[in-house]
Amino acid sequence: MTETGLPTPRLTFADGHSIPQLGLGVWQVPAEDTAAVVETALNAGYRHIDTARGYDNEAGVGEGLRRAEVPREEVFVTSKCPNQDQGYEAAIASFDASMADLGLDYLDLYLIHWPCPEKGLTVETWRALVELQRQGRVRSIGVSNFRDVDIEAVFEATGVVPALNQIELHPYFAQAAAREDHARRGILTESWSPLGQGGGELEDPVVAEIARAHEASPAQVVLAWNLALGNVVIPKSVTPSRIAQNLAALALPLTADEVARISGLDRGEDGRRGKRPDAFEGHQGS
Ligand code: A2P
Repeated sequence: MTETGLPTPRLTFADGHSIPQLGLGVWQVPAEDTAAVVETALNAGYRHIDTARGYDNEAGVGEGLRRAEVPREEVFVTSKCPNQDQGYEAAIASFDASMADLGLDYLDLYLIHWPCPEKGLTVETWRALVELQRQGRVRSIGVSNFRDVDIEAVFEATGVVPALNQIELHPYFAQAAAREDHARRGILTESWSPLGQGGGELEDPVVAEIARAHEASPAQVVLAWNLALGNVVIPKSVTPSRIAQNLAALALPLTADEVARISGLDRGEDGRRGKRPDAFEGHQGS
């Protein structure tokens, strides 16, 4: 439930499953804090948690899920195959390890974390995800940080379109071209670092003015903009008041003019804060 008492709206994938439009992201949440943060979020009404093998906190996510005692079917859980586990057999083994750490017997969504074009294993990794879905161990499969060329490669090889592409997306880096590519292919866009990692957007004068008009916080305005574009958002916070505040952004209606003004803040490539998808093959990141 949100603060309005309404359940989080869901967006539907091309495969027929659906995802709550707002979830808690746990990138950069320390392992020892993760169970408490996840429990806080579930008690506040979140029903969607986004983690990754590379965040080194899947065990904490599992512990938080058990502590909150929300029925498994009511929570949407995402994890991701890390770069060092790309390849068919390695990805299957990595998935098994994620499930053991999470303490779950199925996952809602499993993503390839980064394309790693230099490794040349993107397609083999995708074949592993297709097999995991076929076996019913994961309901939906998708990708993260993929460029259109990477999406085309996995689709061309398997005929299976990713349900979703999770990419860096916030007002200073609005990713209009990627969103158009996704829409054309029937892929949902999911925004990581939707708050710009708590950076410049939260102090932007345009965002501040709109926040004052709605008696909302800048973070809520930035999230409401992202939601209005039709994206799934996974803001990260370890702060209970912010965890609750971010969920309440679901109840903040922006006008079309306000959405357009925030979209006008885009700085293109200069607005990027994270790693570049074509040049990152390392261990950590988003
Ligand atoms: P903290 O975790 O200390 O509460 P993003 O999701 O874009 O990566 O942003 C995460 C950053 O934004 C974290 O530093 C987080 O701080 C901060 N943050 C999360 N929610 C809010 C909020 N409602 N207001 C201000 N900062 C926030």
